[in-house]
Amino acid sequence: MEEMRRTVNCGDLRKADLGKKVILNGWVNRKRDHGGISFINLRDRYGITQTVVDPEVFPQGTIPAELVQVTAELRNEFCLAVEGKVRPRPDTMVNPEMPTGEIEVAVEKILILNRSKELPFQIEDETSAREELRLKYRYLDLRSAAMQKRIKLRNDVVFAIREYMTDKGFYEIETPTFIRSTPEGARDYLVPSRLYPGKFYALPQSPQIYKQILMVSGFDKYFQIARCYRDEDARGDRQPEFTQLDIEMSFVSREDVLSLIEGLFGHVFRKTVNCELPPKFKRLSYEEAMETYGTDKPDLRFDMQLKDFSPWVAAGEFQAFKDALATPGGGVKVLVVPGKIGDKTIEYSRKQIEELEAQAKIYKARGMAWMKVGQTGVPEGGVSKFFSSQAAVIISGLGAKPGDLILIVADSKRRIANTALGAVRSKLGRDLGLCDPAKFEFVWILDLPLFEFNEEKNQWEAAHHMFSYPQEQYHATLETDPGAVKGDLYDLVFNGFELASGSIRIHDPELQKRIFNIVGYDPAEAEAKFGFLTEAFKYGAPPHGGIAPGIDRLVMIMAGQTSIKEVIAFPKNSFAEGLMDDCPNTVGPEQLKELHLIIDEPSGNNQVK
Ligand code: AMO
Repeated sequence: MEEMRRTVNCGDLRKADLGKKVILNGWVNRKRDHGGISFINLRDRYGITQTVVDPEVFPQGTIPAELVQVTAELRNEFCLAVEGKVRPRPDTMVNPEMPTGEIEVAVEKILILNRSKELPFQIEDETSAREELRLKYRYLDLRSAAMQKRIKLRNDVVFAIREYMTDKGFYEIETPTFIRSTPEGARDYLVPSRLYPGKFYALPQSPQIYKQILMVSGFDKYFQIARCYRDEDARGDRQPEFTQLDIEMSFVSREDVLSLIEGLFGHVFRKTVNCELPPKFKRLSYEEAMETYGTDKPDLRFDMQLKDFSPWVAAGEFQAFKDALATPGGGVKVLVVPGKIGDKTIEYSRKQIEELEAQAKIYKARGMAWMKVGQTGVPEGGVSKFFSSQAAVIISGLGAKPGDLILIVADSKRRIANTALGAVRSKLGRDLGLCDPAKFEFVWILDLPLFEFNEEKNQWEAAHHMFSYPQEQYHATLETDPGAVKGDLYDLVFNGFELASGSIRIHDPELQKRIFNIVGYDPAEAEAKFGFLTEAFKYGAPPHGGIAPGIDRLVMIMAGQTSIKEVIAFPKNSFAEGLMDDCPNTVGPEQLKELHLIIDEPSGNNQVK
């Protein structure tokens, strides 16, 4: 290898290098034979260089026998060292799409560093390989230029984060990954202890408690690129292990945290994708978001706002709407779907409307009414006949245009009318191609409820986590009206995904105890689970707050993807399995014995008796 070590990489060479003798190391991206000449495109992570085995390079115009033999053997993904001289490509073969497209390397010598088996799938940018194969042979999948680009983006994003945070005086402090199991929303992953039979460590769902304790320790500006583990169902934007940019600060208000993040993302986007974000992000209260978009994760890349249909219900003749409004807390919401997007006219068929109604029903709507705006500007079809006396007022009130589709959901629970229609809005955004992946829209969601009621358990739960500060005006009524309490909470939504959550925290042990009590911990249980935190708070805990953006989701959206697997080098599949190393897996009886574990499912070799 020594004498065939690369002198340049496969993305380096340009016209200015003509005549240079070079050695390249890389993989065969593609090989083509053309009338006695072989073209070998050699690839590494920096690019692709065309190399040519050409008889004209050699005395008497003959390729040496050894080189002929080696060239004949080459297949895609062989790992090579190639020596040769840089020469211009003939005019007809210049490739302006490739940074190295003006030159090629005339090969003098090839050394096969390693051969490759036949590939399970071709390495391409737009791969059509099944996900299962991509994950099993991840090392091959990661060779594609698209994956290499996304992994690079991830590296650049994390680097820019560290750069900004350090510059602002934050310390990066690691917190343990073997911790005590403390409830934080999802199920914990547990690690059995060998030294303490029957005892377990938990992997952190986030460093939440540790970062708060770091504030008690006086590290007033903390961050960490933190690994988090949650045993919950995987989805496009969820993995059992993922990475957060975890942040905590002392002596701050909500505004300090929000503007730190705005400054940070401004820096990260400028540095990595050369994009200038607005200096301040939009803001919506939780109530506004629910009323206007039917979700607390609105995608603001497109408009289409939910409106209130109730002004027209009383004079109309549609009983279901009247019934919904007759119930306290009921609501009738409406969405106007454009009949024209750009210069494209859209006809909504019965079938499409039924699909949209099915979407609303997933979100508990009992049905979805509709009407269309005819070319004369008058409502037609669906429930229009019940509103004929007010046709003009409705159309002008909604600002609807000829060709538009009007969708209405009524429910005795206004929340259902909102969320069901919000889900229809999201589906329409996707179906109508309104979610431009090149557009970046951030919005803060503020004043979120502190508690939510779990019907199954008949119990109030913390909507975010138990350490968030209830806004001052609700302190007197925490116990009597938990549903009304707003927290000093904030979520950052990015293109319709929840990117970050955070809050100003409770630093008063007495207030913390009241929250534990409301979410159903009796004092002894709270003491057992969180006593170390409340104890720490008794030693002059400073007021503090923080936030944690998900790095996987951030990079996913920046890369225009909809699955975080596309920006994680070795993700799990949707069933939390690692297909490359086949994990989770059984362990031998010795290991189980050491851990004092007996498996009660009769599967494989995991039984220890
Ligand atoms: P939260 O649980 O909202 O807050 O998580 C913060 C952010 O982490 C990301 N995230 C995930 N990403 C991928 N896969 C998952 N399973 C997953 N779960 C969460 C999301 C989310 O917005 N300790 C608090 C933060 C705080 O209060 O400071 C916390 O973890 O982008």
